[in-house]
Amino acid sequence: VTGPDLAGRHVVISAGGTREPLDPVRYLGNRSSGKQGYALARTAVARGARVTLIEANTGLPDPAGADVVRVGTAVQLREAVLKAAADADVVVMAAAVADFRPAEYAPGKIKKKDGEEAPVVPLVRNPDILAEVAAERARPGQLVVGFAAETDDVLANGRAKLRRKGCDLLVVNEVGERKTFGSEENEAVVLAADGTETPVPYGPKEALADTVWDLVSGRFQEM
Ligand code: PMT
Repeated sequence: VTGPDLAGRHVVISAGGTREPLDPVRYLGNRSSGKQGYALARTAVARGARVTLIEANTGLPDPAGADVVRVGTAVQLREAVLKAAADADVVVMAAAVADFRPAEYAPGKIKKKDGEEAPVVPLVRNPDILAEVAAERARPGQLVVGFAAETDDVLANGRAKLRRKGCDLLVVNEVGERKTFGSEENEAVVLAADGTETPVPYGPKEALADTVWDLVSGRFQEM
């Protein structure tokens, strides 16, 4: 068991998946349950941190001891993350954020009409919250941690994403049936900007969360 090594630290964690509304009954979404982000929140509370958990569409009960902010879309998530990041020591983006949203919201339910082609839904880009937080660094020494869920060339894609997003750590998890989205377990490699790579074997999402905090806490100690 780790001690209260995050005491006095404000950690901001995003969890869950954004939903991008198309009309009053439909949205573009993803399979994130929020479990990995909530495991990060619980373990950070246990290690003494002040925790702001920004959750999107998880339906999970609030973890004891964390301040919870609820959002729906990527644009709302960005606003809440930037606000909380202003006095954060570390920001961890475990949420699955939609890269695109429908260009227009239809105020009435889109209907199918006899003899008409299927509608085409134009999309626009959502803001990249992780890249923005990493570029801005609202506080000197602020750490920024991203996640990446990959299906192919997992490590190569992860290494490229770490550079592109400009974060300090990137947790790369491979999408699989018994891990990553929705399950209680995960398996990952934590890539660091200094080139070190920390494999985390298959196990409970709390174990991966604790490895992330070990690495974060080690960096705080070096500052
Ligand atoms: O919620 P669970 O069911 O427990 O599943 C956990 C998880 C699989 C959702 C989690 O472990 C995870 O991998 N989260 C990131 C999912 C993902 O696919 O990320 P990405 O590769 O699209 O994005 C990379 C990083 O940039 C992420 O930190 C993401 O939060 C961030 N991002 C992405 C797009 C965007 N527009 N803004 C962002 O900030």
